Amino acid sequence: MKDILEQLEQRREEARLGGGQARIEAQHAKGKLTARERIELLLDEGSFEEYDMFVTHRCVDFGMAKSKPRGDGVVTGWGTINGRMVYVFSQDFTVLGGSVSETHAAKICKIMDMAMQNGAPVIGINDSGGARIQEGVASLAAYGEVFQRNIEASGVVPQISVIMGPCAGGAVYSPAMTDFIFMVKDSSYMFVTGPDVVKTVTNEHVTAEELGGATTHTRRSSVADAAFENDVEALSEIRRLVDFLPLSNRDKPPTRPFYDDPERVEESLDTLIPDNPNQPYDMKELITKVADEGDFYEIQEAFAGNIITGFIRLEGQTVGVVANQPMVLAGVLDIDSARKAARFVRFCDCFEIPILTFVDVPGFLPGTGQEYNGVIKHGAKLLFAYGEATVPKVTVITRKAYGGAYVVMSSKHLRGDISYAWPTSEIAVMGAKGAVEILHRADLGDAEKIAAHTKEYEDRFANPFAAAERGFIDEVIQPRSTRKRVCKAFAMLRRKQKKMPWKKHDNIPL
Ligand code: HXC
Repeated sequence: MKDILEQLEQRREEARLGGGQARIEAQHAKGKLTARERIELLLDEGSFEEYDMFVTHRCVDFGMAKSKPRGDGVVTGWGTINGRMVYVFSQDFTVLGGSVSETHAAKICKIMDMAMQNGAPVIGINDSGGARIQEGVASLAAYGEVFQRNIEASGVVPQISVIMGPCAGGAVYSPAMTDFIFMVKDSSYMFVTGPDVVKTVTNEHVTAEELGGATTHTRRSSVADAAFENDVEALSEIRRLVDFLPLSNRDKPPTRPFYDDPERVEESLDTLIPDNPNQPYDMKELITKVADEGDFYEIQEAFAGNIITGFIRLEGQTVGVVANQPMVLAGVLDIDSARKAARFVRFCDCFEIPILTFVDVPGFLPGTGQEYNGVIKHGAKLLFAYGEATVPKVTVITRKAYGGAYVVMSSKHLRGDISYAWPTSEIAVMGAKGAVEILHRADLGDAEKIAAHTKEYEDRFANPFAAAERGFIDEVIQPRSTRKRVCKAFAMLRRKQKKMPWKKHDNIPL
């Protein structure tokens, strides 16, 4: 009996070594942790329950029968993050470059099936050379099985991808279908075709980093939601994110202990809006002053800075925040910001996370660049996302809410539940200057008349009261009491129930 137990331990030890000590050292030399070290950092100490440690590939072509490393290049199982269950797979680059065989993919599929059945997020740590070349079409089919599960799990359990090495070819489409993608600077990259193919086909000379590194995907393509300095930082930030998320669409978002008075008054907010309506201010100051303990987890910080998206807590409960940022392009809506915010709003709605919207928006960005690239369809994504979202929606207009952008930004007309306005709000079809130029074209040469018309327009619309008269604004509030008012609004909405008409699914303008 003792021998058998010892043999088991020995087999485990072999499996834990993955591709062997030399390859582990090579991994470390690249500044990367191993698959198992990453899991250890991601999960609560001692919580990891591993499955399929002894799985080996079944390939016999190209001499593969001679080497059958245990685990087949991916470590899978479940554990906890601050006591809450998550499933995890972590590709082991030391074993055949983390390449995906039929059995490697089957291990991933197994934990994805468990995650959907048992209601817990899936975190995938990607570090792989892609489809196992020796297995040919079998490996492609196996990828297809993972893709299908990504699709089925979407909106059922949160799916998080961490790219910690290569992720190339069709392999990128599994992370692409998950809710969040995080990368590590200088050691991870994602592309559909690598630099060599790019050079052959388009004659562009580009490095892997330029083509698909963390900077490219967080700043240009928006494929990734954030980039971190190293593996350790990335994994600890993912733990922080998981704390905001519900385990599945069957659960409410978590409520955590909070030490911040919901009635807290922030007098500094009374002077946040500058006297000059064209002067910017930092919307993040408002977000952090409203949030419990000032804690804000920003999503896609480096992309489309004219809109801010991320998670805060109010009275310990997760709330998704969308806010125009006057510091970038005056907070205008454009293609990138509409796409960014629409995806975020839809994530929140999938997982019953209430949405708080801060509005200071001068409208949609004009120009051929926007029109030729489809701002009509892309802008409609955000409009659609807000209108279909049935979670509690609370909106605070701080300054400008002009034109179509006013309607889009979670207005009452899109079934926003509570709309507050600061006294500094201007809710109108457009700003006074533009309006007067259109309405009083004949007087344009007469400065005195134009000044009088402008004043008349401002008196009527450069305030929140025309909208409040119609009930489009529920209350004009003091900036300093925003946290209190917003907390109360969400508390009132906690048992909200709203259904959309039955349909198979909607047809959001993609
Ligand atoms: C089998 C692979 C492999 C793969 C790497 N290896 N990729 N084995 N299938 N796809 C093996 C290598 O042979 C090597 O084995 C070990 O992993 C480490 O690889 P190196 O090349 O030494 O490492 P490095 O120099 O860091 O380069 C990493 C790499 C490179 C850039 C990922 O290995 C590479 O280009 N691999 C092929 C990538 C690729 O084209 N994949 C297919 C993409 S298409 P030894 O024993 O020598 O150490 C795809 C389709 C998915 O994935 C479709 C879904 C529908």
